[in-house]
Amino acid sequence: MKNLLESGQTEAFRNALLAWYEAHRRDMPWRRTRDPYSVWISEIMLEQTRVDQARPYYERFMNRFPTVGDLGEAPLEDVLKVWEGMGYYARARNLHRAARQVVALHGGQIPEDPAQISALPGIGPYTAAAILSIAFGKDCPVVDGNVIRVLSRLFHLTDDPAAAATKKVTAGLAERLLLKGRAGDFNQAMMELGATVCAPRQPECGACPVSSLCLARQVLPDPSVLPRKQPRKQRPHHHVAAGIVRKGDEMLIVRRPLEGLLGGLWEFPGGISEEEAAREEFLVSEMSRVLGIDIRVDRAFAVVRHAFTHFEITLHGYHCTYLGGKAVPDTFNDCRWVSFDALEEFAFSRAHRRLIEALAAEVSL
Ligand code: ADE
Repeated sequence: MKNLLESGQTEAFRNALLAWYEAHRRDMPWRRTRDPYSVWISEIMLEQTRVDQARPYYERFMNRFPTVGDLGEAPLEDVLKVWEGMGYYARARNLHRAARQVVALHGGQIPEDPAQISALPGIGPYTAAAILSIAFGKDCPVVDGNVIRVLSRLFHLTDDPAAAATKKVTAGLAERLLLKGRAGDFNQAMMELGATVCAPRQPECGACPVSSLCLARQVLPDPSVLPRKQPRKQRPHHHVAAGIVRKGDEMLIVRRPLEGLLGGLWEFPGGISEEEAAREEFLVSEMSRVLGIDIRVDRAFAVVRHAFTHFEITLHGYHCTYLGGKAVPDTFNDCRWVSFDALEEFAFSRAHRRLIEALAAEVSL
């Protein structure tokens, strides 16, 4: 059976896809502009965050940092605070670094040269192609997870989508299908089709503008088996203990080092402690070893589970009382004694934010 390129249906495909996109595209704040900065921020958010979840973050981010200059001038702390809860915080750290570079090296203009834009922190091939096509109208095809799914089904690609050879095939197909001169709309239409109609499970083939050109639809009883799924690896699981150490009305928070997981975010001190029976003792010795303070563990008060990309944690929160010693930053960048109300001003990871919610619930009991 011939695919749409072999049967001379490329034009028909592009026309049907774009007509559908014009009629059905979701209204998004970043779609009302071609301002490169707005496109850049939205595409970084959409790399790992769904449209519905990203929208309020985008609006807050643009209100707070309306231009690349505003972003570059802001303290990283403020950028992380606006990003709080969205996860994958390296995106925020890279945006901040990249904004400073855009100001220092490119006079505050996001460069439209592919090599220059790709040299900015956090801008990989996907983001570069998205910005270049949507904001600058360049003929660059975009290949993200949604596009891979659409192409796998349209062309009945049955090999592992993550294999280098398959990636070459999908990149080549995206290149050949691209409507030159309207690359921004074409790319967004492909992504939109994948995000809404050609969904991972239960695709709505009846609503698809190009279903008559789709090989998977013709060959397979269930097109959703493509792209081939990777066997799910079991994620390692860790137990983490965190102490809410109180000294009068204040509690101790520490800042994670800038490099690495959740870099620059604040949290309650503690660490990995797998054995439940040893956890309280672990907290006492860890606070002494890392921060130089003596504490007493009073009681466990909350258990929070959280999944990261490559592992999961169960976070155990303990009420603790400060007994003595001066808290000195060591492995941690910074540490502070703060009131409960002041916790709101700091950027915490989602798991630690849930400990704060549990604290608030106890207070209001
Ligand atoms: N996913 C990431 N970027 C997108 C865009 N511009 N339109 C639709 N879906 C997207």
